[in-house]
Amino acid sequence: MEWAAQLSEPFKIKMVEPIHLPPGELREKRIAEGNYNLFKLKRDEIFIDLLTDSGTSAMSDNQWAGIMLGDESYAGSRSFDNLREAVRDILGFEYVIPTHQGRPAEHYLFEALLTPGQHVPFNMSFDTTGANLIALGGHEVECVIDEAYEPSTEHPFKGNLDLEKMEKVLKEYGRENVPLIMVTITNNSGGGQPVSMQNIRDIRAFADKYDLPFFFDAARCVENAWFIHMREKGYENTPVAEILKEEMSYVDGCTFSCKKDALVNMGGMIALRNEKIYEKIVPLLILQEGFITYGGMSGRDVEALARGLREMVVDDYISYRIDQVAYLGDKIHDLGIPMIRPVGGHAVFIDAAAFFPHLPREQFPAEVLGVELYRECGVRGVGLGALAFMEEDPETGSITYPELELFRLAIPRRVYTHRHLDVVAEGLRRVYERRKEVKGLTIVSAPRYLKHFLAKLDRVP
Ligand code: F0G
Repeated sequence: MEWAAQLSEPFKIKMVEPIHLPPGELREKRIAEGNYNLFKLKRDEIFIDLLTDSGTSAMSDNQWAGIMLGDESYAGSRSFDNLREAVRDILGFEYVIPTHQGRPAEHYLFEALLTPGQHVPFNMSFDTTGANLIALGGHEVECVIDEAYEPSTEHPFKGNLDLEKMEKVLKEYGRENVPLIMVTITNNSGGGQPVSMQNIRDIRAFADKYDLPFFFDAARCVENAWFIHMREKGYENTPVAEILKEEMSYVDGCTFSCKKDALVNMGGMIALRNEKIYEKIVPLLILQEGFITYGGMSGRDVEALARGLREMVVDDYISYRIDQVAYLGDKIHDLGIPMIRPVGGHAVFIDAAAFFPHLPREQFPAEVLGVELYRECGVRGVGLGALAFMEEDPETGSITYPELELFRLAIPRRVYTHRHLDVVAEGLRRVYERRKEVKGLTIVSAPRYLKHFLAKLDRVP
């Protein structure tokens, strides 16, 4: 790519959405009224929103044109044909099952393949994916390489799955108790870290050895492909579209939250090669989601998705996308703030436990950092640590904490400029300066699963 293209956003801005910094007193008031849970804040109470990159992308003029052209036929929709064609062209799968977002796709896949009590090896699952598995009586076994748990260790493919760990899972539970292998690309829970093509090939060989279905959670499969282009030998000159197709050629199918890499505000799917699995899932879809040609989406959303799939693999777009995240990551790194290295594809993950070494896990350092950054400058991120992932034994009440205590700043695609990100870095610098005076948080009330969405918290006195 020529330097001028590399240095610039590959778009110009046709429409703007005003944002304003809410006054400091209002921020203080609202964070306390919202029980120190950033999910309780309203849009106008936030300046720069890095809660998630999911469903928050800016669509292109071509996608908006697709919204107007969307075909709302209940059955036989033209927009569905466009989606199926895009899935074949871009991902290389024959069958596509549209769902309204990623989690129903995961739910139907697990429902079709899993018997309660079975174990699924993952590199790492995302919170809702793991929760869907548990809700259906399954268990996740985390098989990511050890480096994934060492935030400051540099490794080009920290999302890789450790095949020896997976071999142990097969030995321990037996082939009959393992219904599939699932690999999240990129590995969101581990810092948006990629999986190498070599690792994907090795997992395929392993899956063949045991005759196991192998699926991706493909929410950020294009960002993964870009990292392969940048970091894996032999792919330096391969366009991202080709790398993505090769990634997909090794799996039986994928679940896909299209709210991420596929550049839509709503939508998901299961894409498959295997007709038998397709036939198993279709009745579940019709029962709960909708007919096979819309599956919980409106025709216009299906149309925007068909177009988003083609846009996501354009090299200058994906290059800009990853560069922008690295811009923020490198700024934060230069401030000496502890974070996951290398910088991930969709987000910067701060090591909140190292940021606040005086706060124990039960005082939720990741949420504390979220509260402090919001107070400082109206920026919202999300805690992905103890509160999101801790597991409580229902009988003994004993708590298992996740390995990592992360605070994530996820960057919506094509939404913020580099100046916005300068504000985020400066806000973090200011919080880091006063980190030693910051107090922890404690739970007032929280549900059993996915506590972070609904928990009420209070300051530790
Ligand atoms: N898989 C991954 C890797 C995800 O990151 C998510 C969602 C899902 C599946 C579920 O998809 O939201 O469409 O139902 N992640 C969002 C996030 C919520 O903020 O990272 P969904």
